[in-house]
Formats: sequence, C-alpha cells, structure tokens
Amino acid sequence: MAGSSTDKDGTEQVIMLERRGRVAWITLNRPDAMNSINNAVRDQLPKAVRDADSDPEVRVIVLRGAGPRAFCAGADIKEFSASVPAIQRRQTLVHDAWIEAIDRARKPVIAAIHGFCLGGGLEIAVACDIRIAARGSTLGFPEVGLGLITGAGGAPKFLRIVGLGRAMDMMLTTERIAAEEAHRIGLVSRLADSDKLEEEVTKVAEKIASLPPLSVEFAKEVIKKGFDSDLATASRLEGDLFALLLTTNDRLEAAAAFKEKRSPKFTGS
Ligand code: HXC
Repeated sequence: MAGSSTDKDGTEQVIMLERRGRVAWITLNRPDAMNSINNAVRDQLPKAVRDADSDPEVRVIVLRGAGPRAFCAGADIKEFSASVPAIQRRQTLVHDAWIEAIDRARKPVIAAIHGFCLGGGLEIAVACDIRIAARGSTLGFPEVGLGLITGAGGAPKFLRIVGLGRAMDMMLTTERIAAEEAHRIGLVSRLADSDKLEEEVTKVAEKIASLPPLSVEFAKEVIKKGFDSDLATASRLEGDLFALLLTTNDRLEAAAAFKEKRSPKFTGS
C-alpha cells in the first residue's frame, strides 16, 4: 500500500474505505507512522465507519492497518504538545469522541491485527466486536509510561474482555504481549499465520455476512447490552428482540430452507 495521500484542499487522506461484496474494509493508512492516530484519523475514521454501517449492501466491517509493520501504534506521539489548553482538549474529547463511531456501529466490526497494536491502536481493537491477530503481532498499553492513561474507552472495555487482574497487570506494567498470549487470555479470538490473516478475516466476515442480518445485529446488541446492564434487564431485551425476530421473513426462510434441504436466501427483512 502506498501510504496516505493529500486532497486538493490539502487534507491528508489517512483512511481508505473499500467495499468487497458484503464486507467493508477500512484501512488506517499511515504506514510510515505505524498508522498512528493523528487528528486526520480522528476526523476520517468515524466517517468511514458510519458510511459503512449505513450502507445497506454492507453486512460486516473490517478495520486493519496498512503496511507490513503495524495495525496501529497508538496516538501520534509527534502531535503531542502542551499547546492545547486543557479545557479545550477535554471538551474536544468529550464532544467529538471519535471512537464512538465504532462503539455505536450496528454491524459487526472485526479488527484484523498485525504487527504492533499499541495504546490507542489497542483501544480501537477492543472497541471492535471480534479481534483476529496474525502470529508475530504485539499488543500492549504503553500509555502509563508516557505519563498518560488510555483515553478512548480502552480500560473499561479491556477489563471486560480479559478480567480485572489481567487488565491491571498489563496496563500498570505497560508490558507488551504476543499474539499467542493475547489468544490464550481471550483478547483475540482467532490467530492466523501472518500471510493468512486477510484470508482468515475474509472467511469469518463472509460467514457472518451469509447469516440473517437482523439476527446478527440483534445478537450483537444483546451481547453488548448484556455486559452493561443487570441480568434481568438484559434478559428482557433479549426476549423483546427474540419476539421481534419471530416476525421476520428471514426466520421463515431459514425454516423453509431447512425443510426443503436447500440454502437459504436472506433479505434482512
Ligand atoms: C508517531 C510513531 C508512533 C507513534 C511509531 N512511529 N509509533 N509516530 N506516533 N505512536 C513512527 C516512528 O517515529 C518512526 O518514524 C516509524 O514510526 C517507525 O518506528 P520506529 O520506532 O523506528 O520502529 P521500531 O524501532 O521498530 O519500534 C516500533 C514501536 C515504537 C515499538 C512501535 O515505534 C514505539 O514504541 N512507538 C510508540 C508506541 C506508543 O507508545 N504508543 C502509545 C501512544 S499513547 P520515523 O519518521 O522516526 O522513522 C496512546 C494514547 C491513546 O496511544 C489515547 C487515546 C487515543
């Protein structure tokens, strides 16, 4: 991949969005800076995610990093400066929370991780629904060593995935872990050889894309809400969404295809 380009108006194009059939591939495209997150990424990534999420042809979204070395090495440290007044910084982060586009996506979002996945890069990955990592990748939170902490919802999401003890250990020591260890602790759900990552991600994305889209969307919703609400509330939501799915054509189509021993054709209705 060639690296970011610049628009006529001087805007650096750092995010690429490509649709391959029912899968939208969103690429962080700053390979010379290890795809680190600068203001242009914070500006363009949410838009690409929202565009893919609202495209009726898209069923699954994949996030990945360009170039051979990194998914994303975190915030662009070269943009760090003391020049922004704290109050302005705080208002920007709260009112323009770029990571929320991933948090709010209705469609499943898969992180295809290779190389370094550090700091804000790992925050992006834990905002995704499924993480698939290439062997040889390295994951970690260096923030504390930089006099910071995670700033894009990374800590609360990470501890929900790996548990309190492991989250404390990794975030307080800043030690990085290998993909195999990330797999062992459930931080990534699948591993692939590095030259097979795209193939593995495509396989998973296509599998999900072949399923009834409303079931996929509601399953994602109830799993996410199940984390953040009490058992009774989450179970009630599950019951409501289950009842809604009973009214869909795709449910009837799935049952008919089973009886007729044929492949189902789902329409998302
Ligand atoms: C800006 C970065 C960068 C980053 C790498 N580069 N990480 N530029 N911000 N986060 C640039 C390097 O400056 C260098 O460019 C090029 O990418 C290659 O990096 P090297 O350091 O030469 O490679 P290597 O020695 O192999 O080391 C790779 C590395 C290291 C381990 C990933 O670059 C590193 O530690 N980077 C910082 C990682 C980090 O601390 N991230 C957390 C940021 S804080 P030049 O032009 O010099 O060749 C954060 C907070 C999030 O993410 C808050 C909410 C979003």
